[in-house]
Amino acid sequence: MTILIVGGSGFLGSELVRQATTAGQPTVTTYATAPGAASPTAWCHLDLRDATSLDATMAEVNPSVVINASSGRADWAITAEGPLQLAIVAAKHGIRMVHVSTDAVFSGIGRVHYDESCLPDPITPYGAAKAAAETGVLAVHPKAVVARTSLIIGHGRSVHERLVHQLAEGTVDGALFTDDIRCPVHVSDLAAALLELALSDAAGIHHVAGTDALSRHELGVLIAKRASQRLPSTHGPASRQRCPRRARRTPRQPDDSAVLAHPTARRPRISTPPRGRTRRRLRLTLATAAAQEQFRTRGERRFRSG
Ligand SMILES: NC(=O)c1ccc[n+]([C@@H]2O[C@H](COP(=O)([O-])OP(=O)(O)OC[C@H]3O[C@@H](n4cnc5c(N)ncnc54)[C@H](OP(=O)(O)O)[C@@H]3O)[C@@H](O)[C@H]2O)c1
Repeated sequence: MTILIVGGSGFLGSELVRQATTAGQPTVTTYATAPGAASPTAWCHLDLRDATSLDATMAEVNPSVVINASSGRADWAITAEGPLQLAIVAAKHGIRMVHVSTDAVFSGIGRVHYDESCLPDPITPYGAAKAAAETGVLAVHPKAVVARTSLIIGHGRSVHERLVHQLAEGTVDGALFTDDIRCPVHVSDLAAALLELALSDAAGIHHVAGTDALSRHELGVLIAKRASQRLPSTHGPASRQRCPRRARRTPRQPDDSAVLAHPTARRPRISTPPRGRTRRRLRLTLATAAAQEQFRTRGERRFRSG
């Protein structure tokens, strides 16, 4: 049973490849610019904007399931149209599909908790492209899974962790917002959950993220502390609301939206436990002001030991 991982040279994709191959699954992995560090059964070049080569790749690899872990940020052709083309081809060949999406499809405006029944209301170009992809994928491939996640961290290699270290070292300038609330998820937990979804008969939208709701600034403080670093006071806390121009311009945070969170179903729908405040539930939560304090202390303990 071959798994095709689109975007396998990326951060999440590499972990998917690692876990799938460790589990003995034949894995074909795509890259757009250069193969990554992972060791799949085979690498192949694929640009989602090229529908013809997409069809040829799918026919040649003939996978049982394709996981789309590619990212084109706010590029509409890659992020919105690419997954749609992939879903059309997957449906044509009768191939299961798991498409990775984001909490940035929600605005966080006028609502705190989002479950899978909530309609997207993106406020950024990236969120809009991801929301369009979700709709397109499920329209042409109703048996596909759309897995929405949040900030992906882990092993110190995520873009978010690297940014915090750079801020602490003073090698870059930037802001960590206190009013951008997310549910960070460890890349290993997310990859395991996605593989579980890929190998199941699940369909439709699934929320898959960490159990703790943290602001970018809180997460940054935890990341810095774990590496025995301190964030200079000039790097936060900062309010996104108060400096919208800077927020929009910060190139290292392309996938931000405003304050948001997005809890999943009340009962776990998959068994892979995410790291966080509790390993028992697969939920996304946004702390209320009171709950934030609890998350802060418990999350800090967990993060340090995790
Ligand atoms: N990172 C986060 O915190 C976060 C949060 C929420 C959701 N997500 C979602 O999670 C997924 C994985 O994110 P990530 O951070 O792991 O991404 P990433 O590290 O930036 O990797 C992106 C991957 O997409 C490939 N790619 C780029 N352009 C492509 C194209 N035109 N056609 C096909 N492949 C292309 C890249 O290939 P090359 O490297 O060879 O160019 C790379 O393998 C994405 O869907 C993203 O939207 C991420």
